[in-house]
Amino acid sequence: MSKFFALIPAAGSGSRMGNELPKQYLSLANQPMIYHALKTLCQTPEIARVFIVLAPSDHDWHQYDWSEFAEKLIVLNCGGATRAESVLNGLVVAQGECIVDANDWILVHDAARPCLSSSQLEKLINELADDEVGGLLAIPVADTLKRSNADTRIQQTESRENLWQAQTPQMFRYELLSKALTNTINITDDASAVEALGLQPKLVHSDAYNFKVTYPQDLALAELILKHRNAQ
Ligand code: C5P
Repeated sequence: MSKFFALIPAAGSGSRMGNELPKQYLSLANQPMIYHALKTLCQTPEIARVFIVLAPSDHDWHQYDWSEFAEKLIVLNCGGATRAESVLNGLVVAQGECIVDANDWILVHDAARPCLSSSQLEKLINELADDEVGGLLAIPVADTLKRSNADTRIQQTESRENLWQAQTPQMFRYELLSKALTNTINITDDASAVEALGLQPKLVHSDAYNFKVTYPQDLALAELILKHRNAQ
């Protein structure tokens, strides 16, 4: 039977946050941001182990206590120059640990999506466990989309029909994901690498709570969501 593993690429600098501290360590609901996604992934029974890929130069990880995740968490210091490189390096080292097989599922999740809920994660796993290709959490685009020219003038209004915003986790089998990431450059998510092989990953309907913390004001929103959820 195929097993499920999570892999979090967390080797980015988060430059758009305008902070010295890498984004994943910014304080959020009394914890470093990465804590929240780690907790959701580690407490999900289907997930066998959780790999986190850090930059080789990361000096912040050891400032915190991660002992509550010790049973499942494996720390890899092999982050690369891009997200795709970090994921691929993580996959290579993970296989070296001899616990991941070619057909096992890898759920790649951004460190910057702290509000992933257990129910979204369970939905993704349940909808894709028997899928040929794999897929990802995503939400249909709600806003009207404008394409601009270099002067921020509208060039064109784009149709939003059948347009989705990709989220993470993105879930693919180990062998397929490794092959896909080896063959691509300039991609910003795992699904695009799989698409480049001519395959069609499945979109699993998610919700807006699982947004990516990118700009400073996003932190306050994520904090509200997490506090509200923890109070329930
Ligand atoms: O920068 P962005 O928010 O798109 O990054 C998405 C995810 O990819 C984050 O979790 C970030 O830490 C990770 N990343 C990485 N290695 C890089 C760049 C980004 O692991 N070189």
